[in-house]
Amino acid sequence: MSDVSTTDPLHEELLKIARQAARRAGDLLRDGRPADLEVAATKSSPIDVVTEMDIAAEKLITGMISDLRPQDGFLGEEGAATEGSSGIRWVIDPLDGTVNYLYGLPTWAVSIAAEQDGERVAGVVAAPMRGETYWAVRGGGAWATGAWDGERRLTRRPGAPLDQALVSTGFNYVAEVRAQQAEVARRLIPLVRDIRRGGSAAIDLCDVAAGRLDGYYERGLHPWDLAAGDLIAREAGAVTGGRPGERPSRDLTIAATPEVFEPLQRLLVDFGV
Ligand code: IPD
Repeated sequence: MSDVSTTDPLHEELLKIARQAARRAGDLLRDGRPADLEVAATKSSPIDVVTEMDIAAEKLITGMISDLRPQDGFLGEEGAATEGSSGIRWVIDPLDGTVNYLYGLPTWAVSIAAEQDGERVAGVVAAPMRGETYWAVRGGGAWATGAWDGERRLTRRPGAPLDQALVSTGFNYVAEVRAQQAEVARRLIPLVRDIRRGGSAAIDLCDVAAGRLDGYYERGLHPWDLAAGDLIAREAGAVTGGRPGERPSRDLTIAATPEVFEPLQRLLVDFGV
């Protein structure tokens, strides 16, 4: 890491572990995807799917981390939920963008964050099919490796007004929620440059960090979808939040340039997001 002066050595250590685990899980998902991959189970609705690979990747990540740090707690999308006794909790989405993965689309990621006493302190999002990995430690900026030499510091996009903003969003798996989200998007689209729906919240947040989007919003995210990406976006200079005065949450998550954040938040609240 190139800028360690304002970061805590424990957080750097957690980041190192998260990067190793994300790399190994990403390799497993990329190289081990069966050609006849099928849905193993469904969750909140028939289209909220889990594959055997989501489960295998979470097992790999929690196994690796608990070997190194047996006192830590876990919260994972595929069921990991332990308190731990060290004050550190790992928040893991072993495969964010499962539907893309199921269909062979490239936009999926492994997302691993470490929290200390409830505050996000390190986060990694590995996107193997992009050949890119994004990461941040609290106070140390956001960084990435990819198809360029070495590590690149991530910086959010220079400010554009909302009507020139490229904004991404996502849709929940529950039909009634999706219908309401579509209505919000219908009202928003004439007021922005365009709307994208990539299929991985973790990658959307990193795209805000990397200056590839001016903003992103979604209702219905789980802590594992947003934990690492939220820290990465903030460390890249983006503003993140939920409803006015609130942190990003299941109720609402927004990440955007400082110029776009407030007007976008205001519109979303007006539209009844
Ligand atoms: C989903 C993705 C998607 C978002 C959904 C999430 P999963 O996560 O991040 O982009 O729109 O709300 O649930 O189910 O693929 O881990």
